[in-house]
Amino acid sequence: MTKIKKIGVMTSGGDAPGMNAAIRAVTRTAIYNNIEVIGIREGYTGMIEKLFTPLWSHDVSDIIQRGGTILKTARCMEFKTNEGREKAYRNLKEVNLDGVVVIGGDGTFTGARIFNEEYDIPFVGIPGTIDNDIYGTDYTIGYDTALNTVVEAVDKIRDTASAHNRMFFVEVMGAEAGFIAIRSGIATGAEAIIIPETRDEVKKLNALMESGRRQRASNIVIVAEGDEEGGAFVLANKFKKLYPSYDIRITVLGHLQRGGSPSAFDRVSASRLGFSAVEALMDDQKSTMVGIQNNEIVLVPFRKAIKLHKDVNRDMLAIAEILSS
Ligand code: F6P
Repeated sequence: MTKIKKIGVMTSGGDAPGMNAAIRAVTRTAIYNNIEVIGIREGYTGMIEKLFTPLWSHDVSDIIQRGGTILKTARCMEFKTNEGREKAYRNLKEVNLDGVVVIGGDGTFTGARIFNEEYDIPFVGIPGTIDNDIYGTDYTIGYDTALNTVVEAVDKIRDTASAHNRMFFVEVMGAEAGFIAIRSGIATGAEAIIIPETRDEVKKLNALMESGRRQRASNIVIVAEGDEEGGAFVLANKFKKLYPSYDIRITVLGHLQRGGSPSAFDRVSASRLGFSAVEALMDDQKSTMVGIQNNEIVLVPFRKAIKLHKDVNRDMLAIAEILSS
């Protein structure tokens, strides 16, 4: 076992509520094990531009409940180049880092995997994205909070939709995946859920509208932003033409889904994952993500976490359909 003396921690890609809780857990676990911690600001950009700040225990006080990330984040193009990664390596060596914990999603892990094929500073990842689209972990940090934010917003939309017998197309985030859409759809009793992973949901919505069954009622259609039909605006405009008797409105929830204080679930997951990421580095792991499966901490190689596709639970769609009929 190599003696780890100093590690870096950074957040990268889209921010997610709970990232601060993870930074806190990494910092405090490292310090407990007599390991120094350097915060790398603004994701991979910070490695290239030497945006380094020492982190002590008090620096991570009073952040477990905050959204965003105290280290800031970025999507860095330069790290995708050989020159960018070489610069990053030289800078990490200069401050004597023995390992780095990277907190982020797919893009973050892809960069980390390539870096670990080329250079000898081990990277361990923590899944942090509201999209929950990472293979090898049941949940990603931020997903639960984003879900609760969506549910709160849709409940409010339901009030006004009900008052007017209107149909709302509500667009939620999730990149190419429908995880946020499915769960929020079930939790809000949505009449339809449109996600990129399936093709027949639009047909079912057509049938529902044609039946006229819910014409004098509120209707909520949750649309995942990545759907091949083109999102809430395109879909709603199409349906407005097809069914002029329905009073249709559109809400795109957008980036409000990324903000806010993390839920208890996200804080606890982030704390466990942060703790385990430091342990993984101490155990000589590299190019590996720490995840949670069936409530147990697992190690998943970046290779798998990136390449393998995590499918949505299709039973949930069936449940949603039955319960909203
Ligand atoms: O990956 C998180 C996410 O919020 C996606 O759901 C969304 O598609 C994307 O990031 C938005 O990215 P940006 O903040 O760069 O517009």
